[in-house]
Amino acid sequence: MKKVVVIGAGHGGVQVAASLRDEGFEGEIVLISEEKELPYQKPPLSKGFLQGKQTEVSILFRSEQYYVSNAIDLRLGVTIASINPKENYISTVNGEKIDFTYLILATGAANRKLRFDGKEPKNVYYLRTLSDAKWIGQQLESANNVVIVGGGFIGLELAALAVEKGKKVTVIEAQSRLMERVLPEVISKVFYETHIQKGAKVYLGACVNGIQDNGDVVLSTGEALPSDLILAGIGVIPETQLAKEAGIICENGIVVNELQQTSIPNIYAIGDVANHYNPFAKKNLRLESVQNAVDQAKTAAAHILGKAVPYNAVPWFWTFQYHLKLQMAGISLGYDDYVVRGDTASGKFSIYYYKEGKLIGVDSLNKPADHLNARKLLELGIHPAKEEIRDLSLSLKELVSVS
Ligand code: NAI
Repeated sequence: MKKVVVIGAGHGGVQVAASLRDEGFEGEIVLISEEKELPYQKPPLSKGFLQGKQTEVSILFRSEQYYVSNAIDLRLGVTIASINPKENYISTVNGEKIDFTYLILATGAANRKLRFDGKEPKNVYYLRTLSDAKWIGQQLESANNVVIVGGGFIGLELAALAVEKGKKVTVIEAQSRLMERVLPEVISKVFYETHIQKGAKVYLGACVNGIQDNGDVVLSTGEALPSDLILAGIGVIPETQLAKEAGIICENGIVVNELQQTSIPNIYAIGDVANHYNPFAKKNLRLESVQNAVDQAKTAAAHILGKAVPYNAVPWFWTFQYHLKLQMAGISLGYDDYVVRGDTASGKFSIYYYKEGKLIGVDSLNKPADHLNARKLLELGIHPAKEEIRDLSLSLKELVSVS
């Protein structure tokens, strides 16, 4: 009987197991997670969960019964030490061998750590797992001065949360603007202004030189910022160690083809860890998003079931900070022109990015209908004229249905 073993139970890992069963895979499925909790969604951790609007139960992907009913052998609290690609088995740190016909690496990424003189400071905390989120939640109860290193997704979502809890918040971002990795300047500015208006102090182009024993965060300018809680969200590093040690080709993640196969054909990689050729960006990259993990999982599952469905989904992401609900479709980096639809002053608008006359991405702020439409436009390869985007009397739905 065929056996699929999945390492990692985030969005990609859980989806691949579910898709295999949904599409009729009759063999064994083993889903392995290093964490002890039932698999849960990570995006709510820095949003609804820490706001108290979502609970441990509400962020679960599935109930325990789901895995039982679908004969998915869920193994929690299990750490894999190595992969033997010649004899098709993996070994746990306890020495147990688990054999496979197909192996799926959904190992995700780990937080990049702040270091001074090569050493990690002890009093800096990171958000990745449910237990991290619970710990941060407890610390936020009593902390007054919260210093956040990194003005990316995690840093800013945590900053908004802490400000809403009445904390004095300082954000330190190394680049000259917020969320530079994924956002164009025009949107970074809206977020910068909002964080300032809400009361956070934001340092841009700033570097932390060290942390003193009393908790003061010392900037390269010599300024010392008092803190009771230091949180860092300074990006991630793909979890490639198992793959590298097994001789699988890695370069900024695990390199995969359009069917999610690694350099060893019966071993697949999906999600944050997979470096793939992205047809929308027209280059090789890793995407750190739920959409990417879920769609790559579907491609891998289909291929195991004998169907070649190359990964070719429109990338999309989101972040919620205060009243700002930003939804991003496509890959806007590298744009040479953009058109704003709507009124920026109202806080509800979308920006359509063009490269060589073609629509490549759309960022929608508090405009969910525009976002859904943008995904359709990008999926169908429709490149509306810029005048059409500016024309508010023209329904975007018409653009999609006219084609
Ligand atoms: P990120 O890459 O979004 O942001 C990291 C930020 O830290 C960057 O702006 C970078 O310039 C800055 N930085 C790096 N080193 C620094 C230093 N030494 N001092 C000051 N600033 C520094 O990564 P982040 O926020 O850590 O998120 C990690 C992961 O979690 C990502 O995969 C992200 O996509 C995911 N995530 C996604 C969310 C969403 O989609 N809404 C929400 C939360 C996390």
